[in-house]
Amino acid sequence: MYKSALILAAGKGTRMKSDLPKVLHKVCGKEMVNHVIDTLREAGIDDVNVIIGTGAQKVEEATESKNVSYTIQNEQLGTGHAVICAKEFLENKKGTVAIFTGDAPLITKESVIALIDFHENNNNKATLLTSILTDANGYGRVIRNSENDVEKIVEHKDCDENELKVKEINAGMYAFDIEMLLLALAKLSNNNSQGEYYLTDVIEILKKDNHRVGAMAVPFEETLGVNSRIQLGQVEEIMRNRINEAHMINGVTLIDSKNTYIGADVVIGNDTIIYPGCVIEGKTTIGRDVVIKGTSRLENVQVGDRTTIDNSVIVKSKVGEDTSVGPFAYIRPESTIGNEVKIGDFVEIKKAKIGDKTKVSHLTYIGDAEVGESCNFGCGTVVVNYDGKKKHLTKIGNNAFIGCNTNLVSPVTVEDDAYIAAGSTITKTVESGALAIARAKQINIKGWVNKKRIK
Ligand code: UD1
Ligand code: CA
Repeated sequence: MYKSALILAAGKGTRMKSDLPKVLHKVCGKEMVNHVIDTLREAGIDDVNVIIGTGAQKVEEATESKNVSYTIQNEQLGTGHAVICAKEFLENKKGTVAIFTGDAPLITKESVIALIDFHENNNNKATLLTSILTDANGYGRVIRNSENDVEKIVEHKDCDENELKVKEINAGMYAFDIEMLLLALAKLSNNNSQGEYYLTDVIEILKKDNHRVGAMAVPFEETLGVNSRIQLGQVEEIMRNRINEAHMINGVTLIDSKNTYIGADVVIGNDTIIYPGCVIEGKTTIGRDVVIKGTSRLENVQVGDRTTIDNSVIVKSKVGEDTSVGPFAYIRPESTIGNEVKIGDFVEIKKAKIGDKTKVSHLTYIGDAEVGESCNFGCGTVVVNYDGKKKHLTKIGNNAFIGCNTNLVSPVTVEDDAYIAAGSTITKTVESGALAIARAKQINIKGWVNKKRIK
């Protein structure tokens, strides 16, 4: 049957003490709300509506690529009020709607699927996910009757002494029959300690009207919500372990998995080895048999098979196969490094294409350039790409030899098989096969030293 989901993401998150809307705080490099959206999608729910309010524009921007619709909740009068605001989204629909919160990113696709199946197979009108926490502080408690059926949820702040002792908590994740949900929402009141319209009260309303309400337990980890930076840190650690374990199961070696930081959307081939302290973020894809050493950072990078990266930073770039980068290289955005290339120590590459088998071994800057195959850059080459106002392009053909300490003043072209003498400052095209020498001629003054000494 047709399935849709709501994500509550309008709250301010006062306890975070942040200017950023709570659901945009990142866990393993991805905004919490985007974790939830991706999980719902993986569970097969296409039609996702996100309820936004605090920092609405920022949340929309951050979720732009996810193809979701939005409901605006202008005033944050509670989770129940948030769902009432989404009436338009719900009204023409029938069947099940899943409701999740944008601040609990550890829920898994398996649990989402299990919740909906359990809800529908039991003909429930409402089903909630619960778990047992040793520290239930802050969560709504699940109150069961003598038959052990769920009777109601009582928010922490509204609990009496006995209710506070209950360890079974409401995860804030539900499946509802849409028609029944809308009817129950119309009966909500804000007569509670926080003066809010609680979504949790829908459970008691449905139960009192003799509708079937169910609960399904999930591992406690999956229900952890983030209300403070301490909880954010705890959730980050659990997510990090989960991601790292998944890579290890897939055949990736993490030498110290507790100290390896891999983003939620990173893909890594098997037999790749990652050393401690590496940070691999964004939409990064790493091939097979790759070695990433030292404390390298890769962000939105594609790395080919059998490449080695040592103590380097690579951002928004492509690195080919059988290539070696570092130690201590910096590859800046929009660079494409070919196959069997060597980018050595203290080399900076920016917005440049480096052809296959080219060697840039040490202390060199290449920016705004297209470099062909099998070139050799001597130590200390500088592409002088900036004239103070504009960046210019340098083109270097195949098999060019750039001597040590060369300046290539852009825009300039070095054709195939050209050779540049060390210490040259090149300002004009070097034709194919030519040797360019562009430096002051050496003069030796005989006996100069002795004369100087006599003086
Ligand atoms: C909520 C539940 C609680 C549960 C807990 C699980 C209610 C009343 N309580 O409490 O039973 O144990 O989650 O984590 O539902 N939001 C809006 N609009 C609002 C208020 C909140 O969109 O007006 C959003 C928030 O952005 C957040 C989510 O709803 O993503 C939950 O709100 P929050 O204030 O964190 O609720 P809790 O106190 O954690
Ligand atoms: Ca919460």
